[in-house]
Amino acid sequence: MSFRLILASLAAASAASKDELLSVNIVIRHGDRAPSFGWATDDSEDVFFRGHDELSDSGIDHVYEQGSHFRIAYFDNEIVDRRFLPHEVYVRSSAVNRCLMSAASFTRSLFYNTSKKNPVIPPIYSNDKDNDYMLQPHLDCQDGWEDVKSKFNLTDPDDVPLQAAAALLKTDWDCQYVPGKLFDAIVAELPNELIHMRTAYKDCAKVKGKKFMYKYIELLAGAGSNFNELRIKRNAGLLTNELLKNFAEADKCTTAPCSEVPKMRIYYTHDVTELAIAHIFGVLPVFNYTTPAFSSALVFETYRNTTNQGSYVQILLKNGEKPLFEPTNNCYKKDCSVAAVTKAAKPFAITESIPCKKVQPN
Ligand SMILES: *[C@@H]1O[C@H](CO)[C@@H](O)[C@H](O)[C@H]1NC(C)=O
Ligand SMILES: *[C@@H]1O[C@H](CO)[C@@H](O)[C@H](O)[C@H]1NC(C)=O
Ligand SMILES: *[C@@H]1O[C@H](CO)[C@@H](O)[C@H](O)[C@H]1NC(C)=O
Ligand SMILES: *[C@@H]1O[C@H](CO)[C@@H](O)[C@H](O)[C@H]1NC(C)=O
Repeated sequence: MSFRLILASLAAASAASKDELLSVNIVIRHGDRAPSFGWATDDSEDVFFRGHDELSDSGIDHVYEQGSHFRIAYFDNEIVDRRFLPHEVYVRSSAVNRCLMSAASFTRSLFYNTSKKNPVIPPIYSNDKDNDYMLQPHLDCQDGWEDVKSKFNLTDPDDVPLQAAAALLKTDWDCQYVPGKLFDAIVAELPNELIHMRTAYKDCAKVKGKKFMYKYIELLAGAGSNFNELRIKRNAGLLTNELLKNFAEADKCTTAPCSEVPKMRIYYTHDVTELAIAHIFGVLPVFNYTTPAFSSALVFETYRNTTNQGSYVQILLKNGEKPLFEPTNNCYKKDCSVAAVTKAAKPFAITESIPCKKVQPN
């Protein structure tokens, strides 16, 4: 029994294993990065020598490992050709260094080497950052924050995300002995083996820190209890449209096995986008109010049901570097046919990016 089948048999809805897998869409967060601001230890700046926000060496290692788990799941049983065929695998990434580097390290683990032992790295498509509304959140837009502004009584139209973090720290930070301004530093540095944080920092990062981060990311995303239609569409509307288009193409496949659509599409993005997508596809609770780990992925498998020939979408969470593909139970007791999944997510799908107001009127 393959690893993949063992994992699939753990899934609640897995009559799946005998149905034909038509395509896999992966929405994945970049690997371990340095904190965006602050450092948790005196050694941090040396360990994260590429600087704030950049992928770390352990991030590269973890991403490669994460890729290996996908290789075992989808390549070793020859669903996808390990020589890399451009019509089979499509990779697209947000154009920030940590995502592009993650995409390269992840895909390096999927394919055979050349006969001279060089890695085969597929093309990684990207739009430049300012024009990428599919995989890059645009949090500097001034509109779309009315709910956040009124929740925290914010009056300054500039940099609402930063003001919201400060306000949220006042109401929701309950780690004694840890300065709130280090919330990103302790969570980002926790998985790094070379970092030895003081005990209070470590203990905070493990649970409370990650839960605090979830609240903040959910708010930025416009998801969950911080639902905001404009914000969530701005963050994930184009990607939703892309995923629905991909499911529809697979649904129309006329050959069995299906050879008409890419077998795997990989979208490298950020935690904000991942939570927005989880909300849109109704699987947000699977995160347990804990921020997505580095390399965390939502995996959308499109299957053809052998019993009724209809196609359906099964969503799995592959949170970080642990080998488990966890079911989100999106099929359990629910209609997860392509038609039903499309109907539920369609209101969030957009085909043009939402204009971004950078200057407040008056
Ligand atoms: C590709 O080459 C590297 C370096 O020699 C090696 O570690 C890796 O296992 C090889 N991969 C495959 C799939 O053979
Ligand atoms: C916002 O202002 C209202 C009314 O002045 C007040 O009741 C509320 O506690 C304030 N909220 C915060 C988070 O400061
Ligand atoms: C959420 O909690 C369940 C039950 O404790 C656990 O199995 C699962 O791994 C958790 N998910 C995450 C993303 O931590
Ligand atoms: C496959 O089709 C059968 C018969 O209509 C149905 O009972 C079953 O729930 C379907 N499986 C999935 C995962 O949709």
